[in-house]
Amino acid sequence: MEVLIFDDPAAVGRAAADRIANLVRTTPDAVLGLATGSSPQATYEALAEDHRAGLDFSRVRGFALDEYVGLSPDDTRRYAHVIHESVTIPLGMDAALVQVPNGDAEDLVAACEEYEAQIASAGGVDLQILGIGSNGHIGFNEPMSSFQSRTRIKTLAPSTRADNARFFDDASAVPTHCLTQGLGTILRARELVLVAQGAGKARAVATALEGPVAARTPASILQWHPRATVILDRAAASELEFTSYYEHAANTPVVTRGRLAGV
Ligand code: GLP
Repeated sequence: MEVLIFDDPAAVGRAAADRIANLVRTTPDAVLGLATGSSPQATYEALAEDHRAGLDFSRVRGFALDEYVGLSPDDTRRYAHVIHESVTIPLGMDAALVQVPNGDAEDLVAACEEYEAQIASAGGVDLQILGIGSNGHIGFNEPMSSFQSRTRIKTLAPSTRADNARFFDDASAVPTHCLTQGLGTILRARELVLVAQGAGKARAVATALEGPVAARTPASILQWHPRATVILDRAAASELEFTSYYEHAANTPVVTRGRLAGV
């Protein structure tokens, strides 16, 4: 796992965006896994700058991580709406190529299976963008989610409903259920990029990166992924123990094909 620590949240967004932009430059029809929440917003803003400077996202496919169950079709809190407004439009993506789990399907189980099939028929996710919940969740995979889980219906944890109450009139209006890609789905993405900013994420980040891989901390599965990058600001990194290792690795030339790059 590569851990990069930056002084401010905007630099986190820029660094994550650079990775995504590089992928899209080399693979114009790349498949991106899209996250909602405040964490990736700086990343999307940086990508929108790249788009205004000419980067073409029109052939890029997108699969959102999750969606609430039970919100009315015109509710602006639906992740389908959030993804459309914060990603599809500003990046100039083709809306027909951006999918979100269908939280108001008549048959939610079938909708989950269909979503997995859509991801598979797109060839799988090339790069999955992730935030992290204060309880260590990724997507809406709450603590004690199965590592093998695929897209499914989940009950939201009380702490997640409390965290997300800021978007609703009161905590009781936050949906009780959601559809989310599983941890097994996320692990199959070819690359993971997790972004976190702020002291409120520091404990979850430290537990996920430096604690045991355990179902109680779903984000700890990043330790199992062969190509995972975690991009943090100083506040989100403030409870890490191995900061000097990460900084040393980030500042040491990379060995490629037996040679030191740039030497
Ligand atoms: C939300 C989303 C997650 C997100 C997390 C953190 O509820 N389902 O995908 O990463 O919780 O949200 P935020 O970035 O707003 O702190």
